Amino acid sequence: MSLTAIPRAKGAVPGLGHIPRLLRDPLAVLRSLHAEGPVLRLNVGPMPIVVATSASTVHEVLVKQGKAFRKGRIFDRVRPLVGNGLGTAEGPTHIRNRRLIQPMFYKERLAGYAEVMSERAETLARSWSAGQQIDVNQVMSRYAIETLSATLFSTDIGGQAVESVREDLPIILKNMLRRALAPKVMDSWPIWRQFDKSAARMRRVIDEVITQTRASDPEARTDLLSLLLSARDETGAGLTDEEVRDELTTMLFAGTETTASTLAWALHHLAEHPDIERGVLDEIDKVVGNRPVTFADVPQLPSITRVLDEALRLHGVVSLMRRTTEPVTIGGYALPAETEVLISLYALHRNPELYPDPDRFDPDRWLPEQVAQRPREHAVPFGAGNRKCMGDKFSWMEATITMATILPRWELRVVPGTKAPTEAKSSMAHPTRMPMTVYPRQR
Ligand code: HEM
Repeated sequence: MSLTAIPRAKGAVPGLGHIPRLLRDPLAVLRSLHAEGPVLRLNVGPMPIVVATSASTVHEVLVKQGKAFRKGRIFDRVRPLVGNGLGTAEGPTHIRNRRLIQPMFYKERLAGYAEVMSERAETLARSWSAGQQIDVNQVMSRYAIETLSATLFSTDIGGQAVESVREDLPIILKNMLRRALAPKVMDSWPIWRQFDKSAARMRRVIDEVITQTRASDPEARTDLLSLLLSARDETGAGLTDEEVRDELTTMLFAGTETTASTLAWALHHLAEHPDIERGVLDEIDKVVGNRPVTFADVPQLPSITRVLDEALRLHGVVSLMRRTTEPVTIGGYALPAETEVLISLYALHRNPELYPDPDRFDPDRWLPEQVAQRPREHAVPFGAGNRKCMGDKFSWMEATITMATILPRWELRVVPGTKAPTEAKSSMAHPTRMPMTVYPRQR
């Protein structure tokens, strides 16, 4: 079975295939693909990668035929670096651990995390002064790390771990994709020294917190780590300390940059659309007033949800990777086992047939009547199927509480003459810099 029947994406050059195009502007390549077809072939040097670009082929790979796929080549490289948490685990380990961990994201648990989030958001809002210029991307990145860490570890034990994670995690996240994509022969190169040092230190610090929490009666606590330590499967067995560490690490990797980048973009777009911002502020006034934002407020703030959904459509996870474990047919094309498949969320979420004028920020696209006009699988920013994000509700709750706390107090405005450049060096199309000035809100 060969892949040559699958149309090849434009712009390949002899020998190198699509590498020059991908190096020049990966986001432009990914978004142009939907116009060329629902299933395409990219050549990265000699390696063919099949790309799914349409709502239906993405759905086939992630959900309908999901059992015929594993996570793929890049995760085999990531696993030794970050461990075997949910994001990288495969087969029975993935199924068992996902079942064990899922209850930690149930509604009643989220209510507890909401309190921590609301306190953290208040602290952030108090930390700014009138006229201060901030790099929103950097601020949100630090804030998301601190907030997730504060829900993962109880404050009495985990204080030091939060400090260390705040220092090491950005270094790891910044270099992870490059480290995983580099050939194995480069593993011993000194360029990774800082990455390896940070990864080792973070592992050590998390191990220490696990030991201390285990010794402190985790059944009596409600932080995420204690819940992980108390979780039992149907045979009564729990997770080992190593498994718990890998799951904590995975959540820090999966849940910080993603949430931070979405928050930064949401604030940026609102600053550029004062009319939309006014609607959001009216809603916050009505629902929250001057008190701290609570768990119960979150579903009452749908206009913030729409702003976040739209920010994520425009700047979310760019692509997902899979590899076939058996022959499978996608979009009418036969793929043999061991085929690398890329799911281009960037192409799907900027497809003009689904989202007219796709680069325009328009939260109204998420009004129920507009959503009803698109096919069911039109948006999968949190993935779909058996590997769907565990933290989607957690992250939307955190982002909603943060926006509803900050916006009534501060007016964030883009510093004139600056723009937020996007880079795709990690999973998200996140900004590199986002300078904004904060002014006290006059209402
Ligand atoms: C805006 C925020 C977020 C976005 C856009 C996002 C996106 C995603 C996506 C697209 C996947 C699927 C990956 C794949 O199929 O290969 C995923 C998986 C995952 N996410 Fe998130 N995520 C976010 C926040 C979070 C948070 C806050 C947490 C945890 C606290 C989290 C934990 C996870 C985990 C554990 C997985 C792996 C699930 C599995 O493979 O079974 N995510 N996320």
